[in-house]
Amino acid sequence: LDNGLALTPPMGWNDWNAYKCTVSEALIKQTTDKIVASGLAAAGYQYVNVDDCWMANSRDAAGNLQPDYTKFPDGIAGTAAYVHSKGLKFGIYEDAGTHTCKGRPGSLGHEKQDAKLFASWGVDYLKYDNCYAGGTTQQYIDRYTAMRDALAATGRKIVYSICEWGVHDPWNWAPPIGNLWRTTPDIQPNFASMLSIFHTNAGLAAFAGPGRWNDPDMLQVGNGMTATEDRAEFSLWAEMAAPLLAGNNLAGASATTLATLGNKAVIAVDQDPLGRQGRLVASAGGRDVLAKPLVNGDVAVVLFNENAAAATITTTVSAIGKSGAATYSLADLWTGAVRTTTGAISASVPGHGVVMYRVSGGR
Ligand code: DGJ
Repeated sequence: LDNGLALTPPMGWNDWNAYKCTVSEALIKQTTDKIVASGLAAAGYQYVNVDDCWMANSRDAAGNLQPDYTKFPDGIAGTAAYVHSKGLKFGIYEDAGTHTCKGRPGSLGHEKQDAKLFASWGVDYLKYDNCYAGGTTQQYIDRYTAMRDALAATGRKIVYSICEWGVHDPWNWAPPIGNLWRTTPDIQPNFASMLSIFHTNAGLAAFAGPGRWNDPDMLQVGNGMTATEDRAEFSLWAEMAAPLLAGNNLAGASATTLATLGNKAVIAVDQDPLGRQGRLVASAGGRDVLAKPLVNGDVAVVLFNENAAAATITTTVSAIGKSGAATYSLADLWTGAVRTTTGAISASVPGHGVVMYRVSGGR
């Protein structure tokens, strides 16, 4: 969507993966504080996003959505003001159908009124879900377009996230409508779920670019996968120029989890201003090679081992699109080690893990 926003993939946090319906103002404030104190804000995490279950079960007499004041005593406006006071941005959730997935009032037929209310509360990001909707692809397009236009009419800069789970091939129609669109079903905190989402999303590289991103769903880093698997997810999401929305308990996160989410060299790959999604350049026997061209001519490479046992994964500088130099440098983005190569790029990769390099030299 050409609204001047999300020129690099959005970064932040969303409560859903770790908290489901138990979201609250207290959680949002505590998480906001931790994003700042942990250094994640400085590393680029910006949006603090509330998911489903923030609302009361019905609209008020004027037809306006109402917060559940038992969970949000200061309302959404008060919660957003707190997030803003810490230098971060605030996101909210609604649904294109008659109800949200958890049964709160949806925006269908109320798009203008709801968008205005969100803008008046200081909302900077809307995740717009797809429950209680259905119909033809054209009906999906019409509903998502109605909210795009309603958001634009508010005059407030609001990132627009289409949460349609990939069911009607949104990559074919969503780029002029939303800043990002889900390509896959809900991610679960296990390697198999992450892997199947990766397989779908990796094939959609051609559709992504500044202002329009494939969304393979929020991160499960810190939610139960191994540290190796967490690093794999984080690396693959960055390589695919995916939104980096942490989905874990940040206030209680381990040092390892915070270090994974805070890896600035990997974040720089995700946030590279060229805005290209990395592509699979080889995939055989569960051993994958992805390459992502970066704005300064470097290429980010991920060697991903889908199997449980360690394996050596090998590619070459020419396979990742580089040429013209006698030697190239390989910076390992997880260990920090730098070495040179005349052409081969090869590493022993742990089971379910990655090795990620920034390759420099030549053209
Ligand atoms: C379905 C979405 O895909 C999830 O990310 C989450 O927003 C839930 N709905 C909330 O009900």
